[in-house]
Amino acid sequence: MVIRETKPVIFLFTFPLQGHLNPNFQLANILCKRGFSITVIHTEFNAPNASNFPHFTFVSIPDGLSESEASNPDVIELLHDLNSKCVAPFGDCLKKLLSQEPTAACVIVDALWYFTDGLTEKFGIPRMVLRTVNLSAFVAFSKFHVLREKGYLSLQESQADFPVPELPHLRMKDLPWFQTDDPRSGDKLKKGVLKSLKSSSGIIFNAIEDLEAEQLKQSLKEFPVPHFCIGPFHKHVSLSSSSLLTQDMTCLAWLDKQEPNSVIYVSLGSIASIDESEFLEIAWGLRNSNQPFLWVVRPGLIRGTEWIENLPKGFIESLEGKGKIVKWAPQIEVLAHRSTGGFLTHCGWNSTIESICEGVPLICKPSFGDQRVNARYISDVWRIGLHLENKIERVEIERAVRTLMKSSEREEIRKRIMPMKETAEKCLEPGGSSFRNLKKLIAHILSF
Ligand code: UDX
Repeated sequence: MVIRETKPVIFLFTFPLQGHLNPNFQLANILCKRGFSITVIHTEFNAPNASNFPHFTFVSIPDGLSESEASNPDVIELLHDLNSKCVAPFGDCLKKLLSQEPTAACVIVDALWYFTDGLTEKFGIPRMVLRTVNLSAFVAFSKFHVLREKGYLSLQESQADFPVPELPHLRMKDLPWFQTDDPRSGDKLKKGVLKSLKSSSGIIFNAIEDLEAEQLKQSLKEFPVPHFCIGPFHKHVSLSSSSLLTQDMTCLAWLDKQEPNSVIYVSLGSIASIDESEFLEIAWGLRNSNQPFLWVVRPGLIRGTEWIENLPKGFIESLEGKGKIVKWAPQIEVLAHRSTGGFLTHCGWNSTIESICEGVPLICKPSFGDQRVNARYISDVWRIGLHLENKIERVEIERAVRTLMKSSEREEIRKRIMPMKETAEKCLEPGGSSFRNLKKLIAHILSF
């Protein structure tokens, strides 16, 4: 008799935004390496490139987004649209998959798919949730009902720097609110996500327990389900790209030509946008700092323009090769490059943890949501970066870049970030916190 060895199957429902796709696929790779068979369920909108992951099975569901809904600049509205339009297609898909794989171990959903709890319950399959923010931001999100009741949301400008008694370290202006025309829409999202997390079979974080032990305790009080901090995800296994935009690899050859630790890398992530005057202030600030820079100007970053066509004539030539602007970069490789010495960032959690893992000091220019919490932790708690707290002005950018790249403060910052880098390495080694937590996660999934 031939015994067929079958791997336990996990259905992973990825969320179609770049800052989610990356950790979703990183987690899929980690679990695949540990012996699970992965079926990726994804929307047609922002569909991942399946050919980069031949070891996974891909199933696409129709999301029904119209063209205008898919390009809605109000990301919160887009999230709600996706959640309401995917109920039936995801239900049909899950039903079909379960009829083919009745012994599937579990479903893992990105936390932004807040509608899924009812469905997985109906089909009787355990549901775990991947939360892509860190624990400090997660705890801040989880207290939103208390903060709302206390009136912190209707914040006056004069109170922006007031401390938040419920969240030590944070100021009122750091609370993770969203940019949306309708604040009720942000509340609906938070309520939906928190409810679906509470009823889950466990929450997986791209976070490091040793760096956020206190926040982990707080989160466990609020959400009495198992928590698994197994970050940094991207350092577990070598990766294929889950990039939606083409990464411009020419920046690596350009970095090869620069001095060690001399380049300031600039990127504001995949969603944040700025207006044209802010763009020009950053451009002049970088140029005036006289420091080599690699700048990701994503199409769509500058509101109302295609790309960099509004740079003054002669600006690029005036850099004399000291600056390079690209539409999208291989960020993990850029941060790991010996020439990269600093990172001006919007403080998305992926960018932050990627920078910590390479010991690259930061300049924070947060936009919305968890980015503000991360920025406060970077500048005031971990003290591994500078914080641009005011309006974007060229002199401020120039000063921050000079301080980060050249002053004695740089050395102080490096003394603090290097032990964090070491913690991020050690936690993955046998006996380390993420190593142990991953073992627990696997045992948990196999126990279903
Ligand atoms: C946002 C949030 O702020 C983040 O905290 C949340 O968890 C997801 O949504 P985003 O704006 O996408 O994220 O930023 P970030 O979390 O930093 O993720 C961006 C990802 O794109 C990173 O993994 C980064 O390596 C990658 N990237 C970015 C590139 O590959 N190339 C680039 O040029 C820029």
